[in-house]
Amino acid sequence: MTQDELKQQVAAAALNHVPQGEIIGVGTGSTVNFFIDALATIKHHIQGAVSSSERSTERLRAHGIAVVDLNEVSRLSVYVDGADEIDPSGAMIKGGGGALTREKIIAEVAERFVCIVDQSKLVPTLGKFPLPVEVVPMARELVARRLRALGGDPRERQSYVTDNGNLILDVHGLQISQPREFETRVNQIPGVVTVGLFALRGANVALIGSPEGIQRHDYL
Ligand code: A5P
Repeated sequence: MTQDELKQQVAAAALNHVPQGEIIGVGTGSTVNFFIDALATIKHHIQGAVSSSERSTERLRAHGIAVVDLNEVSRLSVYVDGADEIDPSGAMIKGGGGALTREKIIAEVAERFVCIVDQSKLVPTLGKFPLPVEVVPMARELVARRLRALGGDPRERQSYVTDNGNLILDVHGLQISQPREFETRVNQIPGVVTVGLFALRGANVALIGSPEGIQRHDYL
């Protein structure tokens, strides 16, 4: 099976986690694109979606799925999104697609985070995938110095502006053995808007696509 077929398979499996008659949270990325396409087949069973990026909003609307402002929603039972890496505790690196800030906001509102990935995203320790950090432009060098002091090698994502008008530093060379602590430390650097480490609010369940079928991991 190709990687796209694995993503498609896992995206289809996530439909079983979509509650009837509700608004659901929708992430960003190539795996989520397959999920949005699958969601279109049951669009009459949901009220709409809260979207984590302009790209996902466009795709949802193209399928005729209503996109709802998060501020109009007091409760979201499910958020479905991909990840760049996920560790055995359900902590993730996200933001390869640059949408980490809106993703983290929606994940915080949702009661359940359903992570959809192919098996290549499962890692024993986070960090091989460069950790994205969204930064207010004037704080770029301050944040870069602090990230170096934490052992990383931050590199500005070239020609990239987030949906929120900020830049992204991709931090190479990390081995994040204590993701909750590391997330807290990076969050405390002035100028950091969001760190793409989702450990304090990790996944509740991961659906993992493999040639042998879908594996499911539940996290505490
Ligand atoms: C988007 O900003 C990311 O957090 C994505 O969820 C992540 O990069 C996974 O994307 P793919 O499904 O394209 O691998």
